[in-house]
Amino acid sequence: MIWLALIGLVVLFSFSFVLLFGAPYVPTLTPQVEVALELVNLKPGETLLELGCGDGKVLIAAAQTGLHAVGYELNPLLAFVAWARTRRFKGAVRVVCGNFWTKQWPEASGIFTFLHPRFMKKLDKKIVQSNMQNVKLVSFAFAVPGRTPTREKKGVLLYDYAD
Ligand SMILES: C[S@@+](CC[C@H](N)C(=O)[O-])C[C@H]1O[C@@H](n2cnc3c(N)ncnc32)[C@H](O)[C@@H]1O
Repeated sequence: MIWLALIGLVVLFSFSFVLLFGAPYVPTLTPQVEVALELVNLKPGETLLELGCGDGKVLIAAAQTGLHAVGYELNPLLAFVAWARTRRFKGAVRVVCGNFWTKQWPEASGIFTFLHPRFMKKLDKKIVQSNMQNVKLVSFAFAVPGRTPTREKKGVLLYDYAD
């Protein structure tokens, strides 16, 4: 019984402490994942960075289209699930368990996020400071304040960060 209570506490803690640093876990719907990949329009071999990769759903969809994908996930349980689900794409997908705000991001041509309105300005600043060359951001549901999306489809917004 005590083990069940402990497991429950670990699960509760893993899902709730993330709220201090970002959005809670809610998976993107499959049609929106497809739209995001369509809008970001990367070529096979290019890298998509996912900030808060949840259970790895977007990473898998990206790898299936021939992309390289790197996902950051703060919740260790979700990071483990994402890692386990993407193991078959060894070499193409990397899952990093950690806080994407404090990490040095790898070179990438596209970024996917499904965060929360209160983090979008901070995200914009971090992308600009990261000096990524012509990176494209696809954000499900939430707009970047002060920027006009290049395209918008089914609730997915595309932003071009041209040099
Ligand atoms: C709304 S969910 C989206 C999950 C996934 N991207 C998807 O679209 O299906 C946001 C995810 O970001 C993670 N997250 C929030 N803040 C984070 C941070 N600072 N660093 C890494 N992951 C974070 C949460 O744990 C959660 O899994």
